[in-house]
Amino acid sequence: MRAVRLSEHGGTEVLGVTDVDRPEPGGHEILVEVAAAGVNPVDTYFRDGSYTPAGLPFTPGVDIAGTVAAVGEFVERFEAGDRVFGTGIGNGTFQGSYAEYATVPEDRIVELPDGVDLTEAGGAGVVAGTAWRALIDHANLDPAEYCLIHGGSGGVGHAAVQIADAVSARVLTTGSADYHDTLSELGAETVLDYSRDDLADAVLDASDGGVDVILDHRLDDYLQFDAEVAAESARVVGIGENDPDPGFTNSPGARAKDVCYQFMSMFNTPDLRVPLRGIAHLMEQGELSIEVARSYDLDEAGEAQRAVMEDSFMGKLVIEP
Ligand SMILES: NC(=O)c1ccc[n+]([C@@H]2O[C@H](COP(=O)([O-])OP(=O)(O)OC[C@H]3O[C@@H](n4cnc5c(N)ncnc54)[C@H](OP(=O)(O)O)[C@@H]3O)[C@@H](O)[C@H]2O)c1
Repeated sequence: MRAVRLSEHGGTEVLGVTDVDRPEPGGHEILVEVAAAGVNPVDTYFRDGSYTPAGLPFTPGVDIAGTVAAVGEFVERFEAGDRVFGTGIGNGTFQGSYAEYATVPEDRIVELPDGVDLTEAGGAGVVAGTAWRALIDHANLDPAEYCLIHGGSGGVGHAAVQIADAVSARVLTTGSADYHDTLSELGAETVLDYSRDDLADAVLDASDGGVDVILDHRLDDYLQFDAEVAAESARVVGIGENDPDPGFTNSPGARAKDVCYQFMSMFNTPDLRVPLRGIAHLMEQGELSIEVARSYDLDEAGEAQRAVMEDSFMGKLVIEP
């Protein structure tokens, strides 16, 4: 079968397609014929060596959707022909979905409801899983609360807008002007350009004086801002930053409102099947769609990983082997 492999860490040039043996599922594994594999920033961290996987060489890709081709001897919940999706990210991270077939531990995957598109599902795992963990598990977002999603056009952002809307929160989001209409259609009540000078005032105006929940993917840009626009007892969930030392100069502002800061990693998800089943349900109900901005072949994996870090797009990039 064809698979992307890398035998050393480095830039996108280390990603090449090669012929390898089709893997055999272990006792608690499923062999999936891959329909689509999401392209995530985390894939580039494994590629460049900032996150170290089990060892070299390896096939990248943590998100997966496809059809079960075979199951391990102890697997009871799945059989050949089932449509499934999931993500390997978590304790003992699974990799390998940039390939025609991949073996996945059975506890990283759930059944995909009829009618849900496999390509969309391939891009759902990390981004919708992160949005679910942040908003539902960590922030305990309630109906009618104001919820600010920074960068709503991104992978995590656009899933978060829809999940927040699905629980009847009042969604504010930021994004480039090109994406405002789509973000409104996805459920945002207020869409603001993140580059505007009066962004804090605009958020405060649109939220009756402060937001209850914030999902922040750029803590180095927004840590102080979050405290400024927070309502009393707001919950801020931080998922990422560009500068690993974001600093925090607004602790008096945060203290004055009893703001709760929660930083999270998908790696710590106790049971990935819980958020995955929630995501599957919302997709089946038509409340969550993954906007596939671009689809790539296996031999375009390097370009896809460049694009996920450098380009602007609405939604998600996927590889379809
Ligand atoms: N902690 C975790 O477990 C976890 C899980 C998943 C992701 N993450 C991290 O979360 C981040 C986002 O991931 P992703 O997959 O959603 O990436 P993505 O699809 O590339 O989205 C990033 C978004 O940020 C927007 N953006 C750029 N500059 C901005 C600014 N100044 N203010 C607000 N938004 C801005 C981009 O919009 P433009 O198109 O306008 O540039 C884009 O919509 C990454 O750093 C990733 O590593 C963490």
